[in-house]
Amino acid sequence: MSVFDELQAHSALSFEQARMLPLEAYSSEAVLDAELATVFAGDWQCVARTADLSEVGDYVCADLPVVGGGVRSIVIIRGEDSIRAFDNVCVHRGAQLLTGCGTETRITCPYHAWVYRHDGSLIGGPYMAESTEADGAPFNPDRHRLPEIRLEVWNGFVFVNLDPDADSLGPRLAGLHDIVGRFAMESYVTVRNEVDVWPTNWKLLVENFMDAYHVFKVHKESFGANGDNTANTEMYPGTLDWAHHRVVEADGPDLTANGDDRLDGEWRRTIVLAAIFPGFVIQLQPDWLWFLMITPMGTDQVRIAWQVAVAPTTLAAADDPDALIADINALIDQVNCEDHPVVAGIRRNVDRPQFDRAPLSNLERNVFDFDRYLTTRLSR
Ligand code: FES
Ligand SMILES: [Fe+2]
Repeated sequence: MSVFDELQAHSALSFEQARMLPLEAYSSEAVLDAELATVFAGDWQCVARTADLSEVGDYVCADLPVVGGGVRSIVIIRGEDSIRAFDNVCVHRGAQLLTGCGTETRITCPYHAWVYRHDGSLIGGPYMAESTEADGAPFNPDRHRLPEIRLEVWNGFVFVNLDPDADSLGPRLAGLHDIVGRFAMESYVTVRNEVDVWPTNWKLLVENFMDAYHVFKVHKESFGANGDNTANTEMYPGTLDWAHHRVVEADGPDLTANGDDRLDGEWRRTIVLAAIFPGFVIQLQPDWLWFLMITPMGTDQVRIAWQVAVAPTTLAAADDPDALIADINALIDQVNCEDHPVVAGIRRNVDRPQFDRAPLSNLERNVFDFDRYLTTRLSR
């Protein structure tokens, strides 16, 4: 049975029947190529927050993984009317236009200085007066523009999709919006912006983030410092687009700042862990959020672009905002140190002789949801 036959069979399993994915799925180059050609080329990927693009001309570049290795560089830029995404490539002779992030009144190519507006239209290029279009007409900048990529904003997150025919993201996430919309997370203030590369398969990282089972053990010293929260975890079945669970500490502290009335009742003590497939995961709290944009770099390396943002009310109420931010960052650094050896170790172990995969805990329901999404997409 090929690994693709196994994945197809996996897509039909109920949660009760399911195990972790076939081990080869974490090491197979062919599976990675199929993932790149299917989910990364056809599903929505988060590339930024609107908070990264607050002023006209603000831009960020993002690298999207593509079949065969390497990346497709895109640029996301705020124009006078909206945020747009383009291939980060000059239509003259293919130079990369921008790098990193910054602010530009116009996009000027570093090679021969062709100039584009924020909407991707070409203003012109120097020394082109003698040039002609393919049909012999005089060179006309109006005939040329940057290739635009589909973009949607959802709760302050900027998503792009390389498939021009993909279903709109908003309706697919309506159920998740009903849960997280109340947090107004688009207003959270960015306090940290990082890119890491870990030696593991990208799927193992998504699964680990959505695994509520390991927290009491692996994160005993960080998330579990005040006791085991496992009994407060509420697991919900996911969809083929997203999944989530909640940690609701009925007797825990109110996590909102004084006077902050965004959230009612138990929501003031609720942490939401959510995934938007394929590679966006978030830990959302009343006081801060942590999100990861996860993309593969081969079968045994994953790129993790991640940010931390704090609720503005929480920042305003803090006696010492810098100390508050330092505490959150220290917690997340510790959590990352705790997860790193686990997910790196699993990646090494899937290369060993097969073991018989054993049942999942109910606390791993969201791991199954992600696996079902992936195996369903790869089986179409
Ligand atoms: S490649 Fe950009 S101006 Fe020539
Ligand atoms: Fe973890």
